[in-house]
Amino acid sequence: MLSSAASAAAESSTSSVSTRDLAAQLATAYRAVRDETERRAAPLSPEDQVVQSMPDASPAKWQRAHTTWFFEQFLLGPHCPDYQVFHPDYAFLFNSYYVSAGPRHTRAARGLLTRPGVAEIAAYRRHVDEAMLNWFVTADAAKLEEVAPLIEVGLNHEQQHQELLLTDILHAFAQNPIPPAYDPAWRLPTTDHHGEDWVTLPEGIHPIGHAGDSFHFDNEKPVHRALVGPVRLARHLVTNAEWLQFMAEGGYRTATLWLMDGFACAEREGWEAPGHWRQVDGEWKIMTLGSLQSIDPDAPVCHVSYYEADAFARWAGKHLPTEMEWEVAARAGQLPDAFGAVWQWTRSAYAPYPGYKAIDGALGEYNGKFMVNQLVLRGSSCATPEGHSRVTYRNFFYPHHRWQFTGMRLADYGA
Ligand SMILES: [Fe+2]
Repeated sequence: MLSSAASAAAESSTSSVSTRDLAAQLATAYRAVRDETERRAAPLSPEDQVVQSMPDASPAKWQRAHTTWFFEQFLLGPHCPDYQVFHPDYAFLFNSYYVSAGPRHTRAARGLLTRPGVAEIAAYRRHVDEAMLNWFVTADAAKLEEVAPLIEVGLNHEQQHQELLLTDILHAFAQNPIPPAYDPAWRLPTTDHHGEDWVTLPEGIHPIGHAGDSFHFDNEKPVHRALVGPVRLARHLVTNAEWLQFMAEGGYRTATLWLMDGFACAEREGWEAPGHWRQVDGEWKIMTLGSLQSIDPDAPVCHVSYYEADAFARWAGKHLPTEMEWEVAARAGQLPDAFGAVWQWTRSAYAPYPGYKAIDGALGEYNGKFMVNQLVLRGSSCATPEGHSRVTYRNFFYPHHRWQFTGMRLADYGA
């Protein structure tokens, strides 16, 4: 939405009406995203917001501050001459991984930051929000057009952290013997999937990647062509009922089903079920944002790693799809549960598309430097904020990661 508004303003840069429209659109989008973060953090106590249950997860308080630092570091600092930094130490505390932006606090020690407290972080957010919203009103047309794409990155970055805020607190709550509820009414989405149902993709050459001006991350470009098919993709996600069958048939103990690294990881971690599953009086339960719940056989399996998804596919006599196959099927509207339930592992390495070049400057570190040793996930999850999904979106995690809302669908090559 903002990209097209930015283009419209660029075409008539002398029009004060267009400038006001762009400023109003930026302010509306900014408020909506910032408010959603606070809405998601609202059920959490100050103690909840400090905890870091593992190095990969970040405290909620830290994420509320880090997303704020992003606007201070990349927008207000370099582009807004009158801006006064809220606190000189916050750039060190809340820079995540941007080497170009200076030194930073150790990632695994974020949970040790009992200070600044949640009240100071709330004040930090208000300070930056006030400066940003005031700037939208006072900035001239040329500056607004220049920074609009950066603001979009900042808002999409914050939306990514909105999902992480939920997955990270769920991981923390899942370590608690008395299983806390983030939202007692929370339920994982279910499906009406029963039996096999396949989408057939005949052999063909298809465009892959993002085209057009609407917002996208740099890793979705350039558009290129890929040979896809013949292949069949499962129209539906793998369910808990199917996963329980995999478990009952010794899936976690059968080394021949697993990649070597995967089996070693499963042994080391003691995996015998998906993440956040617990056995209570002989029955499997799953820790959710609504506390401990019974396993719904019709719900998509969730919190599985790439290693587990790969082993399940081998057990089923099938495969994981490539990200290109997924994109072609989803673009054709053939995957009804592509979005909003669980991210879906693909067997595609997270690698640059042909001709990919990271954007210039510190924000070039956003995606490009992670393009090794990780796997692509497609779709979106029940924790993904509204408006953050698209058919070309490339999520990526290491193959052992399973604290995100991650599931899978199968591919069949008929051999
Ligand atoms: Fe971040």
